[in-house]
Amino acid sequence: MTQFSDLGLAEPLLRALQEEGYDTPTPIQARAIPALLEGRDILGIAQTGTGKTAAFALPIIHRLLANPVRLAPKTVRALIMAPTRELAAQIAESFRTYGRFAKLNIAVVVGGVPHGGQIRALSRGLDVLVATPGRLLDHVESGHCRLDHTEVVVLDEADHMLDLGFVVPIRKIVSKLAMRRQSLFFSATMPKEIATLAGEMLRDPVRVEVTPVATTAERVTQQVYMIEGGGKRGLLLEILSGKDVTRPIVFTRTKRGADKVAEHLETYGISAAAIHGNKSQGQRERALDGFKTGKVRVLVATDIAARGIDVDAISHVVNFELPNVPEQYVHRIGRTARAGAEGVAISFCDRDEVAYLRDIEKVTRQKLPVIDRRANPNAPVEEVARPAQGQRRPQGGQQRRPGGGQGQGQRAAGGGRPQGQGARSQGSARPQGDRRQARG
Ligand SMILES: Nc1ncnc2c1ncn2[C@@H]1O[C@H](COP(=O)(O)OP(=O)(O)OP(=O)(O)O)[C@@H](O)[C@H]1O
Ligand SMILES: [Mg+2]
Repeated sequence: MTQFSDLGLAEPLLRALQEEGYDTPTPIQARAIPALLEGRDILGIAQTGTGKTAAFALPIIHRLLANPVRLAPKTVRALIMAPTRELAAQIAESFRTYGRFAKLNIAVVVGGVPHGGQIRALSRGLDVLVATPGRLLDHVESGHCRLDHTEVVVLDEADHMLDLGFVVPIRKIVSKLAMRRQSLFFSATMPKEIATLAGEMLRDPVRVEVTPVATTAERVTQQVYMIEGGGKRGLLLEILSGKDVTRPIVFTRTKRGADKVAEHLETYGISAAAIHGNKSQGQRERALDGFKTGKVRVLVATDIAARGIDVDAISHVVNFELPNVPEQYVHRIGRTARAGAEGVAISFCDRDEVAYLRDIEKVTRQKLPVIDRRANPNAPVEEVARPAQGQRRPQGGQQRRPGGGQGQGQRAAGGGRPQGQGARSQGSARPQGDRRQARG
């Protein structure tokens, strides 16, 4: 098995990984890191929770260390773009963790907070900038940041970043970059039409595909309840009462829906917080922090929290409403069963959502088990909601999250058993023209 020391990473990185308790590289790390150290562009596809962040962060830090330069004002050596503020902050935290012995200038530039501090951080020049596209473009256009010296650019959640909601600012930003640069695109999903667009922005890329696109996380037990809309609230309460439902996240399609579900839970004495694009940045941070620390039991979210967010030990994902973009299902349920842990994903499907369910099954190449609760809404919740023992069945080395904050050593490094190897089905029935997703 490949070890981190076999990958040729600089000593300060190996030391940081050791302190983090990372034992062995995950498959995407083992395959992407050597190509990235050679300077290649990459399109990296791997399941949720399998360590894509370190797969790009480690070789980037290595590169910065290998070629020390005096930072010119307003320049950025490595630019990482992510779709939401929360994910950008999390990625920067990972860079700080892996780069703790590397003395890097790292900053985050996102919307929803004042410009001043960001302008000051940019003015000195940065080794690493993690940004959401809109705010970054503001700074570039107002002359507070220049990208012509940028050596490496990453699009995390690349398919989402090239989707309708983001592609315009992304194109503008990419046009400001130097031609000679390394470009890294990562995601767990990559619809064909977007892969083509991605290909145009990469130079002779290596495509590293650990599992076929849109393969769902390995250790997640999935269940669908067919239910009429009016029965969803009762079923949610029932599911949340399961004793193994220790840290659940509930997804809705709309912001209003998220607020309503959170209010409903509070009415029944279950502490809940909603996170979505209409909340202030302060509210968003409080909701996510409260959920991480356990002060808030249930996080109710729109797809703003579907991608990339790495909260330790989320036990259950409940799709109160199915997403209309099928790839989002893969990302939503990927908030559980990360880094070798197990988890449960339960989806409610009413009559208006059956087409979404079919689309999800097509994109993920799997048939989901269905319990029909339409005829008998009061039937007891099946055992799937309570996976009892073996919630966490570590395999292989111990692992810790960057920063060493939560749940240390509870989980194991992601293994490599691919699921659903079948060919991606042809001719998806996905409703076209409605791919706009939640934005940061
Ligand atoms: N080699 C490793 N050994 C142990 N743990 C690891 C290793 N690499 C990453 N991890 C941990 O695995 C978790 C998931 O990593 P990460 O967030 O990078 O996943 P991801 O592939 O980007 O998922 P997503 O598609 O949801 O964004 C993190 O908590 C991280 O600390
Ligand atoms: Mg990620």
